[in-house]
Amino acid sequence: MSGLIKDIEIVDNDKKAAESCDIRVTEDTAKNGQRKLYIESYGCQMNFSDSEIVASVMKENNFGTTSNMDEADLVFLNTCSIREKAELNVRQRLTVFNRIKKTRPGMIIGVLGCMAERLKTQLLEEEKMVDIVAGPDSYRDLPKLVGDVDGGDKGINVFLSRDETYADIAPVRLNSNGISAMISIMRGCDNMCSFCVVPFTRGRERSRDPHSIVKEAKELFEQGYREVTLLGQNVDSYKWSDEENNKAKLEKKERVGDDVEVFSFAKLLTMVAEVSPELRIRFSTSHPKDITDDVLYAIRDHENICNYIHLPVQSGNSRVLDIMNRTYDREWYINRIDAIREILGDDCGVSSDMISGFCTETEEEHRDTLSLMEYVKFDYSYMFYYSERPGTLAEKKFEDDIPLEVKKRRLQEIVDLQRKHATERNKLNIGQVQKVLIDGYSKRSKEHFQGKNSANKIIVFPKGDAKLGQYVDVKVHDCTGGTLLGEMI
Ligand code: SAH
Ligand code: SF4
Ligand code: F3S
Repeated sequence: MSGLIKDIEIVDNDKKAAESCDIRVTEDTAKNGQRKLYIESYGCQMNFSDSEIVASVMKENNFGTTSNMDEADLVFLNTCSIREKAELNVRQRLTVFNRIKKTRPGMIIGVLGCMAERLKTQLLEEEKMVDIVAGPDSYRDLPKLVGDVDGGDKGINVFLSRDETYADIAPVRLNSNGISAMISIMRGCDNMCSFCVVPFTRGRERSRDPHSIVKEAKELFEQGYREVTLLGQNVDSYKWSDEENNKAKLEKKERVGDDVEVFSFAKLLTMVAEVSPELRIRFSTSHPKDITDDVLYAIRDHENICNYIHLPVQSGNSRVLDIMNRTYDREWYINRIDAIREILGDDCGVSSDMISGFCTETEEEHRDTLSLMEYVKFDYSYMFYYSERPGTLAEKKFEDDIPLEVKKRRLQEIVDLQRKHATERNKLNIGQVQKVLIDGYSKRSKEHFQGKNSANKIIVFPKGDAKLGQYVDVKVHDCTGGTLLGEMI
């Protein structure tokens, strides 16, 4: 699944933001007699992972996937609401599908995901060509919603659940390279960062049964996968207790013994790592307020838990962090970075998300973001300027008062500094030998493989007699902005 993780992703609202992160079905699995489903996914890895659940639910109901939207019977757009541009992009796509529908009157168009949840019936009213609106917790209901449309109605389900985790659904791996896969470990978010729409579109946070997660990781390993990424909006708040979740026992008020196992994220990481030393574990996203030293020790003590942490800071200024409702300040974040460097060493990859021009941000506060970047020297960052979202705390409480050109200029300063740091960090690898999991061919040449080191850096090297999915040692001899270049030893 290349294209998900890039060295620098500048999501500038003037560019086609979603283009850089959209994923479409590339496999044709529809057999004779099956209806054909085409899915496009926008936004974050959670959405890409959800599309695999959707494909699985539909497969059970006699739909197969197609990579050709012109021959689809059913089109699903799994949408994102995180920034205004993400939604504008989906609206543009809807006009494209509407055009196709004119020549294929039977085609059903469904909007899934965060935008469906945010806009609800409004989508059916505004966008006449939409037949189905389904929020992130309603995917089991999709076959029924399609049935509603077959019967001449519109299909809508935007209920958010407190316990849906789709734990028992085996995802159909879309776009998979057969080497690396995503496993969703929790859903929703309880954090209420003031700029963010996710708590409204994805509902309350809930964790998935760890036994089902380990089972999925084992099955993937047996199928030949060598890397899994555990996904959640805030993986560090993962929490599961077998007893707590055994509702029947609780209802009967049976005694909860002292030996009840409570599963933290550190424990879950360890369990998945023990599936096989040959299976690499990645995870995203960590939250600075919740990441514990135990998680860092789990990474240190398991060679196959990757030495890489995505720890979004958003801003380097404590006042801004406070009104963003991030519930940590600059010093706390620095303390977490120091802990990472102390426990995992300097070669642990660290990346971040940044927002420029949040409400009331002064020039001096913006410079605090730059100085924090100087302190940390992130390997990568995903950088955005603030986009006000309807219904969020910030929209209600603060004025979106930073002029667009100021937001953009500050963003550019952040981007330029990040580029410099990425290059500096890459140069540290020159001369070193890195263990690489080969996950594809280099984009430029079929004679070269590419793969990632533990710290999530892409390394390109002549393919020799190595094979896809294999671990190899590569000596780094050069680097470009985002990529290391090397040779197998
Ligand atoms: N759960 C993750 C983030 C998910 S959203 C976390 O807490 O880190 C991914 C990123 O989008 C956020 O980290 C933030 O940098 C950015 N983002 C979210 N809302 C935004 C908004 N209204 N305007 C601009 N960027 C936003
Ligand atoms: Fe949004 Fe904050 Fe939750 Fe991340 S932690 S999804 S930024 S509310
Ligand atoms: Fe977008 Fe929803 Fe993910 S708003 S970033 S798709 S959780």
